[in-house]
Amino acid sequence: MVARESRISGFYKLPLVERRRAVAHVAEVDFDELVRDLETGLDPAVADKIVENVLGTYGLPFGIALNARLNDKDRLIPMVVEEPSVIAATSNAARMVRSTGGFRAQVSEALMTAQIQLTEVSDPLAAAERLRAREPELLALAAAAVSGLVARGGGPRSLEVRDLGDGMLVVHVYLDCRDAMGANLANTVAEAVGCEVARVASGRLGLRILSNLCDRRLVRVSCSARAEDLRARPDEDTALQRDGSDVIEAVVQASHFAERDPYRAATHNKGIMNGVDSVVLATGNDYRAVEAGAHAFAARTGRYQPLATWKRDGELLTGELVMPLALGTVGGTLRVHPTARLALKIAQVTSADDLAMLAASAGLASNLSALRALATEGIQRGHMSLHARSIATAAGAVHDEVDRVASALSANRAYDIAAAERILRELRGP
Ligand code: MEV
Repeated sequence: MVARESRISGFYKLPLVERRRAVAHVAEVDFDELVRDLETGLDPAVADKIVENVLGTYGLPFGIALNARLNDKDRLIPMVVEEPSVIAATSNAARMVRSTGGFRAQVSEALMTAQIQLTEVSDPLAAAERLRAREPELLALAAAAVSGLVARGGGPRSLEVRDLGDGMLVVHVYLDCRDAMGANLANTVAEAVGCEVARVASGRLGLRILSNLCDRRLVRVSCSARAEDLRARPDEDTALQRDGSDVIEAVVQASHFAERDPYRAATHNKGIMNGVDSVVLATGNDYRAVEAGAHAFAARTGRYQPLATWKRDGELLTGELVMPLALGTVGGTLRVHPTARLALKIAQVTSADDLAMLAASAGLASNLSALRALATEGIQRGHMSLHARSIATAAGAVHDEVDRVASALSANRAYDIAAAERILRELRGP
């Protein structure tokens, strides 16, 4: 049996059932339970109780990124994503940074922001002062509305008043949501204190809702790779091979490109979100909230910036990602989705902060892989060779035909359905 670590040699070549067995062993999850939670997924009758006008459910691939080490512990990363190469890319980069210790991550204060909008405030300066003076009472009112959270050690922590001009004030209540994503808690708090806030400020009450720009819930993750772990592999295009030190230089230049150009920064961040969103989806979290927060944070200076940057540090390439990440490990979809709960077990997630660090590590890994590929042979060969299997399947290949057709497509560098159908016809013979 394989050791209980995130490196599982030859994993991608194993048959599905063996891959499941290996993950159940490494993650210490019961094999039958793992199979049941993967096969059953979300019951349509349950889905019918979650959203409206339900017809059924919708499946996506659920995979595992290997090789990750986070804060000195090996971790399997569950990912749900429809795009080929994202999981392989995350695993490859996690391997590249493993010899220097893997990922180091931390979460800042982990506070959600509830916003209360006030309009027609005739004296904003005096109103802001009155609101600040009443902070203890307002926080107590907020706490009473989320007594369950307070009992779990969370709750409202502080208040901020912002003057948006033309008689518009906005009050932020910052609250610690513990292991919940916190949208409902923040909205409850905003609605609970809204009237009193308006009365104290002598203003008209407007919106009461969380902010998805949760910049008081930031996750920071960094990693380093040695030149020898970055250099081209023998299977990569030899015409474009570079040594490890050149790869470092090229990745640093790719980072500068994103720092200088919002057109590039958008794509650079998309590569990060490939990793982050896949973990967010696998664990039943709100990917729209995460996306909204990530891009608002990327644009916080008035100029859209990359969420992760890379620099040379002596003989090492070092990267750092900072982004807001509001994730939960309790409540929401997790109450009803067996596969999302299984994902948390496989990842051995201990808290919402821990999950945020894992998702951010997947994001940084995904970014490193993309930049390394772009800076060397380009992404198309690797990407298309992985995409070839879905082209083969679309052309009608089944069982072992899929890999045989995909290999022929890759060998010919022809990635279209017509080519796949022709290869399949030849393979099957008359
Ligand atoms: C594709 O899904 C993601 C990339 O475009 C990211 C990047 O360009 O950095 C490869």
